[in-house]
Amino acid sequence: MSALPDWEKLKIAALEVRANAYAPYSRFHVGAAIQVGERIFVGCNVENVSYPVGMCAERGAIAAMVADGYSHPDALVVAAGPLITPCGMCRQALSEFSPALPVLLISEDTGEEQETSLASLLPGAFRF
Ligand code: THU
Repeated sequence: MSALPDWEKLKIAALEVRANAYAPYSRFHVGAAIQVGERIFVGCNVENVSYPVGMCAERGAIAAMVADGYSHPDALVVAAGPLITPCGMCRQALSEFSPALPVLLISEDTGEEQETSLASLLPGAFRF
C-alpha cells in the first residue's frame, strides 16, 4: 500500500536529524527523511577522517528503513543549508527501492523548497 507524501511531517524530521549531522570536515550538514506509510526513517551525513568512508544522509535513511524491514518508500525530503539535490550515488541507491520516488528538497538557509522526483533526478538508472 502506497501512501501520499506527508511533506510537513517529513520536513520536520529532515530538519531535526540535520542538526545531528557529523560533518567536521565539510561543515556541510544534511538531513534526510523517508516516509513509508505512517513511518518515518531518518539519516544524516556521517563523515570520517578517511574521507571516502563518509556516509550521505540519504543512504543513512535508506539503511534505517531497510533495517526495520521496509523496502517501499513513499516519499523523501532532503534538507541542507542551501537547496541541494542528492548525489549520484544516493540517486542510484534510492532508485533500487522506488524509481519514481516523490522528492522534496528544502533549504534551511532560505526556506526555499523544490518538489521533484527520482525519475527526473535519475533518468536511465542502472539495472540488470
Ligand atoms: N552529502 C549528503 O549527505 N547528501 C548528498 O546528497 C550530498 C552530500 C554530504 C556528504 C558530505 O558529508 C557532505 O555532504 C559534503 O559533501
